[in-house]
Amino acid sequence: MTKYIVEGGRPLFGEIHISGAKNAAVAIIPAALMVSGPCRIENIPQISDVALLLGILQDLGAKVRFMNPHAVEIDCSRLRNGRVPYESARRCRASYYMLGALLGRFGAADVALPGGCDFGGTRPIDQHLKGFRALGVQVDTQSGFVIAEAAGGRVKGANIFLDKVSVGATINIMLAAALADGMTVIENAAKEPHIVDVANFLNSMGANIMGAGTDVIKVRGVDCLSGGSYSIIPDQIEAGTYMAAVAACGGEIRICNIIPKHMDCISAKMTEMGVDIEEIDDSLLVSRIGPLQRTNIKTMPYPGFPTDMQPQIAAALCLANGTSVITDSVWNSRFRYTDEFKRMGAQIQVNGNLAIIEGVERLSGAQLEACDLRAGAAMLITALAAQGISEISNVQYIERGYEDVIGKIRSIGGSIRALEFPEEEQLAVGNAG
Ligand code: UD1
Repeated sequence: MTKYIVEGGRPLFGEIHISGAKNAAVAIIPAALMVSGPCRIENIPQISDVALLLGILQDLGAKVRFMNPHAVEIDCSRLRNGRVPYESARRCRASYYMLGALLGRFGAADVALPGGCDFGGTRPIDQHLKGFRALGVQVDTQSGFVIAEAAGGRVKGANIFLDKVSVGATINIMLAAALADGMTVIENAAKEPHIVDVANFLNSMGANIMGAGTDVIKVRGVDCLSGGSYSIIPDQIEAGTYMAAVAACGGEIRICNIIPKHMDCISAKMTEMGVDIEEIDDSLLVSRIGPLQRTNIKTMPYPGFPTDMQPQIAAALCLANGTSVITDSVWNSRFRYTDEFKRMGAQIQVNGNLAIIEGVERLSGAQLEACDLRAGAAMLITALAAQGISEISNVQYIERGYEDVIGKIRSIGGSIRALEFPEEEQLAVGNAG
């Protein structure tokens, strides 16, 4: 077991290179199982969710070979259809993409219902299943598994109007439809950059997908995806997390290897908060010298402010002048992390999907427990900004989505180290009431 020990209270200076987008990678790896020939994926982030999904592909017969730490060759020419067990699916929300991918490739899928980050509310997949049913698939959920079978052994194109803008449902339906018989139209589709990335990946392998990045996506099914090479886009949320760290701690860092357009929704709020942001080619120079100002934030589907940046920006707002109101309109109870912030001296009141943050002058280091991926990242930010030492446990959540977080924080002058400790000790602490 690992804890992070963070000594806070210093401004951050230096340069950070952003890795490939986690939420694109976790969809593109399942999508690779639909490709009949070898495919090479570059700019793949080294995070535990990627390792887990590659493991699932290998269990189904894929050959997986790393060409270098950020490029992998996947050969699914001899893939067989098989059950994706609970043990794998529960550890990664994105395992639900195995449903769309297996349905596309084999016309049938048998996948345990997903786990992944628990935001404290329900995370339904009804829109995914509604989409599959529209594509002529019989779907049953039995004993924690989704068992799906296309009539006649192949998914059939259809028109689908999503009741809710859903990233996962949009991608999952797009996957199944890529190898369907006929045309699929997804209306009220989500528009996140990683949806465009998955569509671009599939198109580069031979699919015919139009309109990704708008709210109507048209997928003309093809008979097979033959192979090729693709590079994943940079991670918008990882970049935003380091921007929020500078907002909270002060200093100046250059965030390299990003797509500045993807950062607009985050940069706009940071600017309101008194953070200076200068765009230089594929990087942002982010600095905060003066005091941090309050703001209000409402999370929305892209191009709105991303819910996956909500805890990190809240971390910075704990130290802003004045009162900020955060409304999460995507997840209705994503504020569990605020109890940990309060233990550092933050003033926060939560009411349903609303948090009211009264800025304080300083936070003090404390023992913190990450409760999900982005909450864990937000705790890193409060710990870096706080006076004194913090100890963050449950860091496996953070490592699901952030590559080399310790190395990157150190490269901008943050004081952080990993501490290994025996599991019995953790259990003893966990049982102590
Ligand atoms: C993805 C991201 C997650 C992010 C979220 C919203 C991945 C692996 N995860 O999650 O980090 O927080 O997008 O940007 O990419 N909903 C339904 N029925 C469904 C599906 C969703 O009601 O079938 C609701 C959800 O409860 C939620 C909203 O729609 O309120 C958005 O969910 P969705 O976009 O599907 O999130 P995920 O794809 O699970």
